[in-house]
Amino acid sequence: MTEQGGARVALVTGGAQGLGAAIARRLHSDGMTVVVADLNLAGARLSAELLGGRSMGLEVDVTSDGSVGLLVDEVARAFGRLDVLVNNAGIISRTPSAEFDTAAWLRELDVNLGGTMRCSRASFELLRSGAFPAIINMASVGATLGMPLRLAYSSAKSGVLGLTRTLAAEWGAFGIRVNALAPGYIDTDMMRSGFELGVLDEQALLARTPLHRLGDADEVAAAASFLASRDASFVTGIVLKVDGGVTIDGDFRPADARP
Ligand SMILES: NC(=O)c1ccc[n+]([C@@H]2O[C@H](COP(=O)([O-])OP(=O)(O)OC[C@H]3O[C@@H](n4cnc5c(N)ncnc54)[C@H](O)[C@@H]3O)[C@@H](O)[C@H]2O)c1
Repeated sequence: MTEQGGARVALVTGGAQGLGAAIARRLHSDGMTVVVADLNLAGARLSAELLGGRSMGLEVDVTSDGSVGLLVDEVARAFGRLDVLVNNAGIISRTPSAEFDTAAWLRELDVNLGGTMRCSRASFELLRSGAFPAIINMASVGATLGMPLRLAYSSAKSGVLGLTRTLAAEWGAFGIRVNALAPGYIDTDMMRSGFELGVLDEQALLARTPLHRLGDADEVAAAASFLASRDASFVTGIVLKVDGGVTIDGDFRPADARP
């Protein structure tokens, strides 16, 4: 591994909005050059423009080997390096498991899990010569809790944890740290769609979250900043939960009997 000087370069997939956009902002304010990549090119460009200098917005479909290859080629051409990869692009669907359509199942696994594999694989050569390189994969509470109606999502996010541990074990020899973030219920469009569809009840959710509130995208971005930084130089293969405690709550008193 050769350590390069100058601003580190980060690539954030699914960075047009939500958690990805917040992570892009945070890594940029940490001093990195940030490439925002998304299926939504206009959104990626806008997200990058809002960062100001040291940024670029590009199109990618993380389910396509060709598209991911072109993206990484473009990063190499523009900056000649890649130091941080954030595999954040994701989708969620809600369907009774007994009715799950096979094509929809494969698509959801492919965006959330296949995309993480593809972008990691394509970035390996650039990352291995990067400055204390790091991969951050977006998992979810869905990798811990059984979440009715979210069969493909929970399965994919559980797979992201296995992928994270395997790459961490294999690529540690190249100096690449690989970690996962597992956000809880963070106030983004994706999460609010659960309220709108009635599969999530806001009051029930807040009652069983020890911190009694939704998370903010910037709180997830702060955790990504840590995992990308030198402060996490001996941290690899972990899952960092940013979930207000929702996955450890064992308080089964009625909501109105709690303090
Ligand atoms: N919001 C939450 O509460 C929450 C909780 C846990 C995990 N997550 C995870 O965090 C990540 C971001 O979530 P969010 O809430 O910001 O979602 P979001 O829907 O707001 O943003 C997801 C982004 O991914 C992009 N995308 C979708 N398919 C893509 C593809 N094939 N190729 C490239 N880009 C694609 C979308 O265009 C969008 O910009 C996801 O992986 C999600 O599963 C979110």
